[in-house]
Amino acid sequence: MACLEEEIRAWLERAGQSHLLRFWGELDPAQRDSLLESLAKLDAEELGEHCRRAAEACAREEEPRQERQGCRIEPVPPEFFGSVCRSDPRTLEQWEEEGLRKISQNKVAVLLLAGGQGTRLGVPYPKGMYDVGLPSRKTLYQIQAERIRRVEQLAGDKFGTRCTVPWYIMTSEFTLGPTEKFFQEHNYFNLEKSNIIMFEQRMLPAVAFDGKVILEEKGKIAMAPDGNGGLYRALMDNKILEHMERCGVQYIHVYCVDNILVKMADPVFIGFCVSKGADCGAKVVEKAYPTEPVGVVCSVDGVYQVVEYSEISLETAQRRNADGRLTYSAGNICNHFFSLDFLKAVTEKFEPRLKRHVAVKKVPFVDQEGNRVTPLKPNGIKLEKFVFDVFQFSKKFVAFEVPREEEFSPLKNSDSADKDTPITARRSLLSQHYRWAVKAGARFVNGNGQRIPEEPSLSGDDEPPAVCEISPLVSYFGEGLEKYLKAKDLQSPFLLDETKAEALTRA
Ligand code: UD1
Repeated sequence: MACLEEEIRAWLERAGQSHLLRFWGELDPAQRDSLLESLAKLDAEELGEHCRRAAEACAREEEPRQERQGCRIEPVPPEFFGSVCRSDPRTLEQWEEEGLRKISQNKVAVLLLAGGQGTRLGVPYPKGMYDVGLPSRKTLYQIQAERIRRVEQLAGDKFGTRCTVPWYIMTSEFTLGPTEKFFQEHNYFNLEKSNIIMFEQRMLPAVAFDGKVILEEKGKIAMAPDGNGGLYRALMDNKILEHMERCGVQYIHVYCVDNILVKMADPVFIGFCVSKGADCGAKVVEKAYPTEPVGVVCSVDGVYQVVEYSEISLETAQRRNADGRLTYSAGNICNHFFSLDFLKAVTEKFEPRLKRHVAVKKVPFVDQEGNRVTPLKPNGIKLEKFVFDVFQFSKKFVAFEVPREEEFSPLKNSDSADKDTPITARRSLLSQHYRWAVKAGARFVNGNGQRIPEEPSLSGDDEPPAVCEISPLVSYFGEGLEKYLKAKDLQSPFLLDETKAEALTRA
């Protein structure tokens, strides 16, 4: 250990980071070991480069935003832009069929980005473990797992195969342990354990404005995951693309953990992207209002990308077309399509070119005297890569617009906020299931057997007049419900799970 200590001391000195051992004399042996261990994981040269970039990026950050993006932004042209609402039912069916075909041939995988810290939601465990208070008390992870099982079944039934959609889950140091434990405790939600592949993204130190790494405690460096664009390094580190290749996977649906309406391996989206010969695609919804915190899919200087909500100027965000619609309306919902070949090209060639985005954050630290300080103003820089920054390397990029009330309701904040909370997520899902049930011919009654008047044009923001939850194991996207629900009087709250579905078929 003494030898390692000397070695580390020497390179910290060279990198101008000797302050990280300032409290060495006060640490007990376990704390010393743990600090050395985390320092040993860092590469001296990379760390120096990281700190230099952070300080430089911070200086640049002071320039006005408009300067960097300005009027070079253009919307995605219509020929690369598909839309559920503007396509005829026959075309949608064809895309769906194509997607299901690829799934039935074991060519589709889903990849969950679950390494984030979920700071805005403020729970000490991974977001996927969150229960938004549905009648079934299912967590986001369970809902996602069940949608995978159902889409496998739909594809298998349609094409007479038995098929698997492997589930790759990118975690971080914060989320790997609890996520693994949660899956074990829930018996992998009845999925085959070997088809759930968890892997870890890298962490990077948070840096103060002067380019010095921040000490969070006397013996602990402030570290954060390297952003969801850390995916590409993590794919390499963990040989995930090789695993996909061995399994015959060709298309990957990448998505973020918090959207309660996410369509896992969405056959329509997959089918659309495959039919267009795309190597890379993004699902979008029409932005609700100019300052909505969603990135905008667009082209900047002729190159496709997402301009993140934190990086777009207000003027650009507010621009409208003659018809009153926002010019930059393609709101990114963090649902991406990639071909395996594209991911290979990214990891082999382009990853080092990914931009590092600057997030200026409040990072707790220990001061010179060793007192722990929770800053009131931002004091540190985290550098993050973004998953969508690879769009620029695509040979054929497409965007696909889907209806918000059917596909996007993210859980970002706690219930004290008014948007993207457990309440809004629960409401979106329950209104969707209510709409499905009504469309399938169900009628709702209250505890006294009185009919609850119908609201067929319910939006995702409205509280449904009756509570109805449908298990993804029974229906993936509202399909096949007539045989259980047509002309049935259902008492609210109503939970349609597999047992109930069977009973209703017999009734
Ligand atoms: C993200 C999108 C934004 C989009 C919005 C829609 C990015 C960079 N931004 O923003 O354009 O409009 O979702 O909801 O994609 N994650 C990791 N590792 C990390 C950081 C995050 O795996 O180091 C994961 C999170 O666990 C989450 C996903 O990435 O599943 C999105 O992260 P989050 O921080 O919630 O992104 P937003 O800022 O909401």
